Amino acid sequence: MTHTKTQTTLVLGATGKTGRRVAQRLTALGRPVRAGSRSGQPRFDWHDQATWTPALDDVAAVYISYYPDIAAPGAAETVGSFAELAVRSGVPRLVLLSGRGEPEAELAERAVRGSGADLTILRSAWFAQIFSEDYLLEPVLTGEVALPATDTPEPFVDAEDIADVAVAALTQDGHAGQVYELTGSRLLTFAEAVGEIAAASRRQIRYQPVPIGEYAAAAAGQGVPAEVVELLSYLFTEVLDGRNAHTADGVWRALGREPRDFADYARHTAASGVWDIPATIGADR
Ligand SMILES: NC(=O)c1ccc[n+]([C@@H]2O[C@H](COP(=O)([O-])OP(=O)(O)OC[C@H]3O[C@@H](n4cnc5c(N)ncnc54)[C@H](OP(=O)(O)O)[C@@H]3O)[C@@H](O)[C@H]2O)c1
Repeated sequence: MTHTKTQTTLVLGATGKTGRRVAQRLTALGRPVRAGSRSGQPRFDWHDQATWTPALDDVAAVYISYYPDIAAPGAAETVGSFAELAVRSGVPRLVLLSGRGEPEAELAERAVRGSGADLTILRSAWFAQIFSEDYLLEPVLTGEVALPATDTPEPFVDAEDIADVAVAALTQDGHAGQVYELTGSRLLTFAEAVGEIAAASRRQIRYQPVPIGEYAAAAAGQGVPAEVVELLSYLFTEVLDGRNAHTADGVWRALGREPRDFADYARHTAASGVWDIPATIGADR
């Protein structure tokens, strides 16, 4: 029997900040998508290699978004093993979401490159969506964002742009072998980013810098797992040390257009209502 490969794309992290947007775009283009996560069908779990082979069955390309962080201990070995299995399973095309300016992330990139796949690497800045779909949503809602970030600016990138680049790389020729450094169009300190969110949502939101030790202790006291506290400490001290305080041209090189602006992200997100004060918080004010 002749076996015809479908054009199915396995999207890892398919319910997360970038994977969800990649899956939506591919579906809108009429491309079959398999959602790869613990809630997917079949289930995909980075910690359970037995789930990898079924997820790769009859797949033409994979969007790889590792969890919790591409720079976390063990990530390079895990994504490297996954990429090798993908290539052995006959999957030629991989797009890897990576971090910018992180030697640990580059180890993971190297491990995936070693698989011999047609690879595109998306080296991304901090996502704007950490303020609306991640650990900074709750502080934004309570009106005080306290972080161990100084005045080192970061060119926050919109996850919508990352998804646009990922889909271009997954569906068009000319992106294999490329490393795209993805940033927004402007540098913003955390204080300035919070200021733009406050303006867009017409709310009072204070930015409060805190020493890293105090921040880590408070997070641990609130039950945040030790490895997450470690990861956040690493991101706010080592990665946010000025090494990434410049914009890059990855969005332009991949798509031929400028990145979305942080102010547009803030305006759209405010309009979605996600930053509206919930009744439970508003009632106390
Ligand atoms: N956040 C940033 O600013 C940033 C910047 C640059 C690079 N990155 C990189 O982006 C990647 C994703 O980070 P993110 O913060 O954006 O996360 P995210 O994609 O929003 O994370 C959640 C996704 O991971 C899945 N997931 C969680 N545990 C899993 C497991 N054990 N096995 C398989 N899937 C699992 C979740 O689905 P289920 O719950 O259904 O499993 C969900 O789809 C990381 O590698 C990070 O280094 C992030």
